[in-house]
Amino acid sequence: MSDFNSSVNLTMTINGVPRVIACNPADMLCDVLRSAGYTEVKKGCDTGNCGVCTVWLDGVPVPSCSVFAGRAEGREITTVRGVEKEATEFAQFLVAQGADQCGYCTPGFTMMVLALKRELKSPTETEIRHYLSGNLCRCSGYEGHLRAIIKYLEASHE
Ligand code: FES
Ligand code: FES
Repeated sequence: MSDFNSSVNLTMTINGVPRVIACNPADMLCDVLRSAGYTEVKKGCDTGNCGVCTVWLDGVPVPSCSVFAGRAEGREITTVRGVEKEATEFAQFLVAQGADQCGYCTPGFTMMVLALKRELKSPTETEIRHYLSGNLCRCSGYEGHLRAIIKYLEASHE
């Protein structure tokens, strides 16, 4: 019978680096990552609704506040630091469109935009809005973000 209070060693690859992290597998991945030093993973609602905690699990974006750490055993996790070059490029488009404000939502938002870029070829504006509907920003009205994404995707495909 499992003990939900016990710590185990979880093996995972984070940003391309193999790691063994001692934690309770019933803890949430967001908290485990932050405790292990990956503070670029932000936490907001803690209920799977705002998207600021988004990381990739085997390349698929997930809200890490709603994923048990035990589910990451043997899998590959990518945070925004693991895609730093692309994230920096995208940030320049956010800045150019005046969509850089407090920046708290940016790491999770960026992980979704980069996943979108991989998943959808030439998405429509509606598809972009739909894809990013789970990523909230408390500072902006999203129009600057949308312009930045469209211009970033256009530049990426040139
Ligand atoms: S903190 Fe995870 S979705 Fe809001
Ligand atoms: S820029 Fe502040 S929450 Fe999005």
